[in-house]
Amino acid sequence: MRDLNETSVTDAVLEQMAGTPDERLREVMASLVRHLHDFARDVRLTPQEWLQAIGFLTQVGQACTPARQEFILLSDVLGLSALVNLMHDKTAIEQGTESSLLGPFYRQDAPDLALGETIAAKAPGHEFLVYGRVTDLHGKALPNASVQVWQTDEDGVYDLQKGRGETMDMRGNFRCDAAGRFHFRTVKPLGYLIPMDGPVGKLVHSQHRHGYRPAHIHFLVGAPGYRELVTALYLADDEHIETDTVFGVSNALVTSPRDEDPQAPMKGIPAIHYDFRLGIAAADEAGRVGADPSQIVAAH
Ligand code: BEZ
Ligand code: FE
Repeated sequence: MRDLNETSVTDAVLEQMAGTPDERLREVMASLVRHLHDFARDVRLTPQEWLQAIGFLTQVGQACTPARQEFILLSDVLGLSALVNLMHDKTAIEQGTESSLLGPFYRQDAPDLALGETIAAKAPGHEFLVYGRVTDLHGKALPNASVQVWQTDEDGVYDLQKGRGETMDMRGNFRCDAAGRFHFRTVKPLGYLIPMDGPVGKLVHSQHRHGYRPAHIHFLVGAPGYRELVTALYLADDEHIETDTVFGVSNALVTSPRDEDPQAPMKGIPAIHYDFRLGIAAADEAGRVGADPSQIVAAH
């Protein structure tokens, strides 16, 4: 029997886990234990605080449903999802378009729309155009690339947040033409509060953070053999563009509609022009951070 003290307990745990046959699991768990123990020593974690943390994580788990992933939201507000995305982008041999968070409002079953159609079900007030090309890293067009888009309406609300989520609006799947071009019409999305009615929202409130995401349009862009791109375009004039609660904004993804764009494939409405560059996919690669929660629940 060994008498463990505040530091030797860490070595004792690492020793017991050292025989883990799966190399990656061994590496990840050893590092996790080292950092967790260092953290507890650093803040001199008390038994009450430890219990409070267990209670919080229990609430986070209990808030999860097939349509809501509170653990992903926790990862988002801690900047962990953004960090994982940033590291994943760096693993690309050459730089493709920067990624951003998938978020909880992606749907697999969005309608297929023809190029030029609008994703807004209702006759919109301030319509604008989004257009561009999907290419490889050298600018070569990727014909028939798929471009899935989703966003809030002009009031900052996703279709999934209305009623029981039975309406379908402000989303669509487009197929690029033979030159890798896409264009669609939409209305201006509005910035919105992340889901604040659960334990993560309570945490955000207790930290006096505003809880807003700046206005954005989500994109999931893919072509066979290329790395699937999860990203978003952010609107420059949003008041929270510098302080996104989930750290998804990067300069390269900030855009504004232009009133007069001679290149735009439709005239008479403002246009955002953005070209997406996809890298080659590595074998067994999955690049999405924040997958569809219903899939996570179904998978286990
Ligand atoms: C979103 O952009 O839809 C989102 C991302 C992370 C947390 C909440 C919302
Ligand atoms: Fe969003």
